[in-house]
Amino acid sequence: MDLVTTSACIWLGHRIKYSRLNPFARIRRIKSFISTHSLSFAFARISKQDKWDATMESTMLTEQEFESSYLGQFIPLHYHHNMLMDENRMKSFKAAIAHTVFPGAKVLELGGGTGVLSWFAAAKAEKVWCVEFNPDMVREARRLLSRNPDGDKVEVVHADAFEYLPPEPVDVVICEMIHVAMLREKQVEVIEAFKRRYTARFGGPLPAFIPEAVIMAAQPLQQDYDFHGYQAPIVQFQEITSILPQTVEMARPEVYSILDFSRPVDQNIGWEGKFRIERSGTVNAMRFLTKNVLAVLTGHSTTIDWINHYLALPLAEPVSVNANDTLKVSFQYRTGASIPSLMAALRVEVEVRPAAVLANVRPLHVPKWPRYASFAFKKEYRALAAIA
Ligand SMILES: C[S@@+](CC[C@H](N)C(=O)[O-])C[C@H]1O[C@@H](n2cnc3c(N)ncnc32)[C@H](O)[C@@H]1O
Repeated sequence: MDLVTTSACIWLGHRIKYSRLNPFARIRRIKSFISTHSLSFAFARISKQDKWDATMESTMLTEQEFESSYLGQFIPLHYHHNMLMDENRMKSFKAAIAHTVFPGAKVLELGGGTGVLSWFAAAKAEKVWCVEFNPDMVREARRLLSRNPDGDKVEVVHADAFEYLPPEPVDVVICEMIHVAMLREKQVEVIEAFKRRYTARFGGPLPAFIPEAVIMAAQPLQQDYDFHGYQAPIVQFQEITSILPQTVEMARPEVYSILDFSRPVDQNIGWEGKFRIERSGTVNAMRFLTKNVLAVLTGHSTTIDWINHYLALPLAEPVSVNANDTLKVSFQYRTGASIPSLMAALRVEVEVRPAAVLANVRPLHVPKWPRYASFAFKKEYRALAAIA
């Protein structure tokens, strides 16, 4: 069992133990909100929304849209095709949505793109609000949904996910604004802002989130950056299922962060950790692994996961290492920040090597220790020798 899986299990055990959901109580609570008054309020909101849509669609990119686009929020249409083609992503989301959305549920999707995840939800849900900020994608989602059965259950709303609230409480929120290491895209910020606004407007409980959590790990690599003789240490996205002959894993991955969306999530991620190096060579890159826990199957003590492509970042200063060295690594970044911001924050160094420690310890301590201490010394020596 790899470390990322182990951490997932520990987290999962914790979630099951402290599970806040009594689904029946929650459904009763939500039904009590759906009074005639709130329904007419909902219709009022929708017609206002339509007028706003028309205004939005007729304008050029606003300053806010431009900033989002600059920060990598707007994904061009052809990239949405890649996302639809990504079997790993699609199968996992479809399964998680089928598991979490119950018949008659109200669902909100933040960042709907082509509308595919909203459409998965529409198979069981009574109503889905699919919020998308990019006017091109709003048009595209409406066009595509109109061609699919149950597409009429999905209302595509042209709005900013940072500001939009559905007209009534929802049972499930789907949000896939996910980039490796939670960089670039605004998943964490959007969900945290949503939780604050939702609680202020509707009170508790919060809806279920898909994904429920994210587990992130880092791993030192020796990466070959030779491209037909051209040396190019450059940011890489690596397939998770392919064999990568240019990549040597120098240590096992270490989990550096677990974000659980059912609790407040801090945007600041900082880590200082150690890796036990497994082979001699040069550490010249750090790889970032991101496992999205889309749904926790509490009854089965398991999860439905989606693992992003790996992100391998070249180090400014490669470090030569020996097997059994301890590699000290630290970094900090804000979720949603740029890849270069993480690269600039990476610090990697070899901890004082065991051989050097041994050289200091032997002459200094042995003669001075009383007899009963010699056993302790032997133990310490053996421990040091084992890792030297
Ligand atoms: C990674 S795509 C996922 C699309 C779709 N959910 C899917 O899984 O195929 C993220 C989507 O969020 C949209 N988006 C980004 N920022 C947004 C915001 N502030 N408000 C609404 N939509 C946003 C992007 O335009 C993009 O379509």
